[in-house]
Amino acid sequence: MRRKLVAGNWKMHGLRSQLSEVEAVAQAAAAHPEVDVALCVPFTLIAAAVDRAGALPIGAQDVHENERGAHTGCVSAEMLHEAGATLVIVGHSERRADQNETSHDAWAKAAAARRAGLQVILCCGETEAEHNAGRAERIVQSQIEKSLPDGASPEWLTVAYEPRWAIGTGRTPSLDQIESIHAILRAKLRMMVGDAAEGIRILYGGSVTGDNAEAILAVDNVDGALVGGASLTAQKFVPIIEAAARASAAKG
Ligand code: PGA
Repeated sequence: MRRKLVAGNWKMHGLRSQLSEVEAVAQAAAAHPEVDVALCVPFTLIAAAVDRAGALPIGAQDVHENERGAHTGCVSAEMLHEAGATLVIVGHSERRADQNETSHDAWAKAAAARRAGLQVILCCGETEAEHNAGRAERIVQSQIEKSLPDGASPEWLTVAYEPRWAIGTGRTPSLDQIESIHAILRAKLRMMVGDAAEGIRILYGGSVTGDNAEAILAVDNVDGALVGGASLTAQKFVPIIEAAARASAAKG
């Protein structure tokens, strides 16, 4: 059985004054050992967050594909590892939109993260125009085809489905739509990695809150949530961890 994972993505939010939120989330996570919880914070906060996080895994939101070199402003997987990060998000739609990243970039970044021993959350998701044109299935299949790293396995890889139009908008797909895309992703993973696909978690992301988390987390093949806005405070994030705990108990 796949354990639920609730991962927060702080994006470009967070100064040292917010580290008390990390502590509060770590406490809540410790109280729910049946759920995996992680927080992906800005590079500048990783080491400080690790100091305050206890057993709560701290991650980054991007990584460069090379180990070192003349890449001004970039951070390698080895650097993240040394700072205490244990995971990294790659292929997030905001990086695809803002930095023109491609699925091939996500593939190379995932491989770099793996090389340094980091866990990877690999994102995919269609735009609103693609969604309206009925192309969501094709788009996520093609993104996964191009970005799934070699040797993908549940030990270090998680996939996240995040429809771009649902990110930060307060809008979410219907539960049926989520179920159908997650089933397609599972089938795609099966085609690409065989039996290992059964253990690879597929998270849903896009406007997940304490109010909708329980219903979303009960959907087949939804193995957790990638949470942006609602991960910035423990007050908003902890109810999602609690919803994941209830969803895990319900699935037995
Ligand atoms: P959101 O962001 O929860 O604020 O919609 C999700 C994400 O981008 O990972």
